[in-house]
Amino acid sequence: MAGRVLVVGSFNLDHVWSVDALPAPGATRLASYAGGPGGKGFNQAVAATRAGAEASFVTALGEDAGAAVARQLADEEGITLLAETFPEAPSGTAGIFVDASGRNIIAVAPGANALLSDAHVASLDDELAAANVVLAQLEVAPAAVHEALERARAHGATTVLNPAPANAPTTSAMLALADVLTPNETEFAGLLGRHGNRSADPATLHACTDEALHALCQSLQPATWVITLGGHGAFVSHAPAQLHGDDAAAYRVPAHPARVVDTTGAGDAFNGALAAALAGGPSAPFRSAVEFATRYAARSTERHGAALAMPRGHELG
Ligand code: RIB
Ligand code: NA
Repeated sequence: MAGRVLVVGSFNLDHVWSVDALPAPGATRLASYAGGPGGKGFNQAVAATRAGAEASFVTALGEDAGAAVARQLADEEGITLLAETFPEAPSGTAGIFVDASGRNIIAVAPGANALLSDAHVASLDDELAAANVVLAQLEVAPAAVHEALERARAHGATTVLNPAPANAPTTSAMLALADVLTPNETEFAGLLGRHGNRSADPATLHACTDEALHALCQSLQPATWVITLGGHGAFVSHAPAQLHGDDAAAYRVPAHPARVVDTTGAGDAFNGALAAALAGGPSAPFRSAVEFATRYAARSTERHGAALAMPRGHELG
């Protein structure tokens, strides 16, 4: 039976300009344009459902064109939408430039996402209780994320926190509510600075020894960590005595080859697929869920766009 994943997070309408090279400040470049659904939360909910889970999505919307897109797509994808509506606020938007090698720069205007209330999350206690996995990121109000993780943990769900974007505020209390933490290199370096009083260069983190990375993770917060390292794959670090079916406390999973056209939402693909795998097969080794998520995320980079680039199960090959 498909597991149940509840995602708490942002919906954004993405405005995407594809350029040969990212413009420098003051420069103008020709581009091609496409608009589409995005937001880390929505991308992760679409990934979870397309990866085989039954997904619900807790978010905040305005009453505008963006909100209409969110409602229609949630419906088409079979995602249960549990949205708080703010008629006076715009839905979230993102401006994204993607270059010829698939790299991007993104600016996000949170709009309604920033208003998601802990009271709305609290009103969804039954839905939180029904979930096998509750997955959150940090593009919505932090108090709402905290509320969701706290209730999910009380109900015995597996809690996954993707601490993205990198500059989002985090509290140690929030980190302590996560069973699984999934930063990328930049986000991990940010956490080390804010919570561990250490500076690290995100570009060289992948070159640290497993022992060093494992110690850094567990000194920040005893939990299962999955650091995504882009083309260098992923690093997993488990807290002692909680190996989730694995035979090692620290190990790497290699990246999956891909013909990259657009990395927008690749981290979201990874998180949604990881949540779906954990929700559907809690008895399988954790490593198999990470391998699945790595393969899933690689596939998502072979298409343009964010939410709509998420592969369906049969496309994984
Ligand atoms: O992670 C990718 C997402 O970040 C985009 O869809 C954009 O909306 C921003 O939230
Ligand atoms: Na993509």
